[in-house]
Parts: sequence; C-alpha cells; structure tokens
Amino acid sequence: MNPHPLTPFGLPSDNGGKDLGLFLPVANGGWILSKNKPELDGSYAYNRQCALLAEQAGMDFIMSMSKFRGYGGETKHWDSSLDPIVLMAALSEVTKKTRIVTTLHTLLQNPAVAAKMMATLQQVSGGRAGLNVVTGSYKGEFAQMGAWPEHVNHDQRYDLAYEWVRAVKALWSDESVTMHGDYVTLDDCESWPKPEQRPFLVCAGSSEIGMRLTSEEMDAIFLSGGTGAELSKNSDRAKTIAAEYGRNIRTYSMMTLVIGDSDDAAKATAQHYAAGLDEEALAGMMRAYGFLDAEIGKENDFTRKARSSFMSAQIVGSAKSVTDQVGDLLEASGTDGLMLIFDDYIKSLPIFGAEILPALRERFPDKVAAAVEG
Ligand SMILES: Cc1cc2nc3c(=O)[nH]c(=O)nc-3n(C[C@H](O)[C@H](O)[C@H](O)COP(=O)(O)O)c2cc1C
Repeated sequence: MNPHPLTPFGLPSDNGGKDLGLFLPVANGGWILSKNKPELDGSYAYNRQCALLAEQAGMDFIMSMSKFRGYGGETKHWDSSLDPIVLMAALSEVTKKTRIVTTLHTLLQNPAVAAKMMATLQQVSGGRAGLNVVTGSYKGEFAQMGAWPEHVNHDQRYDLAYEWVRAVKALWSDESVTMHGDYVTLDDCESWPKPEQRPFLVCAGSSEIGMRLTSEEMDAIFLSGGTGAELSKNSDRAKTIAAEYGRNIRTYSMMTLVIGDSDDAAKATAQHYAAGLDEEALAGMMRAYGFLDAEIGKENDFTRKARSSFMSAQIVGSAKSVTDQVGDLLEASGTDGLMLIFDDYIKSLPIFGAEILPALRERFPDKVAAAVEG
C-alpha cells in the first residue's frame, strides 16, 4: 500500500518487526485517574528505575511527555511533572541501548534552541535521541505563562509547527539558515554541533492537519483509537498521506497493560481503580480539554469512557492473555508498534520482559533476521 521504505533507525520496524516502547510516568499519577492506583510519584528516582527495567526487558524506546499544568483533584493528578529534556539527558547516561524520545512544544521553544538541545541529546545518548513534536493544545497550560497567542487557532498552531520542524531540520543539516516565515524568523542562523544522524521524529497529530504534518515530516505517528479496526483505518490513512509525499511512516498506538496472576485478578484490579475515580481530577481534565463548565459533571461519551479511570485504551488480564491480546491488536491494526503504559511499572515491567516481549518478538520477527536464520 505504501511502496516507500522506512528511514532506518536501528528499530525492529526497519525490517518489518514491531517497535515496543514505554511511556514514562513523568507526572504524578501516571495514566490512571484514581485514588486507588499504585503510588506513582512522577519522581526522577521512579523514572530512572523504569528506564533501567525497560532496557533490561529489551524495549525499543522510552518516551517522556511535556506537561506544564495538571488536573488537580484529591490526587493532584499530573500537578507535578519532570522536565523531559533534562530527564532524558540523564536517562541517556543511565541506559545504553533503548532509544530516548523526549518532547518539545513548538509553541514554547525557539527552533534554534530546540535544534541545539536535540543535537546535544544526540551526542549524550550516542545517537539514540528522538523527539516528540507537540503543538500545545490546552490554553490553561500556556496562558498561565503568557505563552498562548489568542489569534493563533488549532490549525495555525500546526502551520507554526510546519515552519518550526522544517527550521530545526535545516539547522541540523545546513551551514547557515535564513527563513522568514509567518511564525519563524532565522537570519543567517548557525547551529553547531550537527547531529551525526537526524534524531527520530514522532508526533501524535490526530486532526487532519496534525496527521498531515506528521505523515509529511516525521518518522512515526501515534494514532488515536483503541480497537484493531479503528487503528487499522488510521494507520492506513497516515501511510497513504505519507505515500503522497513519496515517503513512509511508522504507525504506533498507546496502550495501558494491567497484568494480574489471572484474568479475574487483573479485572478485579482494574475495577478497584475505577471504584476510586478522582471525580475532581476528571473535571480538571475536562476543563483543560476545553469542555465548558456547564457540561462538566454531566454524563456524556467522554465521562462514560473516563469512568474506567484509565486515560488510554487498556488490556487487562494474565500475562498469557495480555500477550495474545497485544499480538492480536498489532496484527489486526497492521501498525508498526505500541507505546505501553503500566498501572504498576515496577511490578509489571519484569513480567513484560520475561513473559510477554519474547512471545511478541517470536510472533512478529524481524524479517531480515528471520530470512538469515533460514
Ligand atoms: C502518545 C501521545 C503523546 C502526547 N504527548 C503530548 C505531550 O507531551 N504534550 C502535549 O501537550 N500533548 C501531547 N499529546 C497530544 C498530541 O500532541 C495532539 O495534540 C493530540 O493527539 C490531538 O491531535 P491534534 O493536535 O492534531 O488535534 C500527546 C498525544 C499522544 C497520543
């Protein structure tokens, strides 16, 4: 369907395998809006342990989001979060193999500053650096620091991101860059050092223009949708747009895994989280997403989904049934990988590494390695 090769980055997907990454819990509470969730303090100590366990498990990348304001409530959900550049530079020193994906907001960072930070991260990590490019969507996060231009709407923020990412790429490759765009101005701008290999670029744009920017300029897209059918449709769409630009793109989705000793035990854990839903934090999240006060507290599709307390799609079960469900999802969706979230990272990552990841590697082998083995 897309005849173009993927740019190789030393990932399983280079050769038809699946990339499996970890979404680090850099903000307190992780991705469960519940008073009953395990302790996730969003500290450096916790994230360092997660990075080490992800590397031991053999995961392909770890990623940190960028967040400037949380949702409050009894759990103070996401009120505290680490800076993703400083964190990922530190975790580059702690790890050796796993790819290190950080996040920057195009709304906040001058592209010349971003180009230099990423070139530095590329050196520190020995060529493992990646960048999740985000436009910034939630007014409260940026208005609090005087960085929310009222006259720039959603799609214009993507126009800005187009200029931004093209400026950053030019600064990584050209001796000097001059650019007079609607949002970015560079005048004979120099940026050294150059990264030896261009950092891996990802984006989660799910709107029409967001998907277009991602398919045209990035190496991977995070798709919305939780079922195989939804993901398959969105994956095809991203790859079709990329083909229009004469290139190809990896498609990933995001999933929370709740692993128990048995299916029933895992389901009971998930129900325990749902029973402790932090209603106030949910209201805070809805406010951040732009729901009007009049709608908050009412039952709608959003709140019905949120009652699970999970902030992403989830797979719940024993290690064996999680393995089968993750494999079936990857197969049905035709996506190139998954970024995983756990309810309890420290408990679950060793189980994932020992029981789930090897089975997934076997089910989705790297085609070149498989051909050599005969
Ligand atoms: C896996 C993933 C990671 C994301 N990371 C961030 C982030 O760190 N900071 C942020 O402000 N938004 C983040 N977002 C939001 C996206 O950048 C994007 O705005 C959202 O998916 C909506 O798409 P749209 O901007 O095209 O409307 C993330 C979304 C996903 C699915």
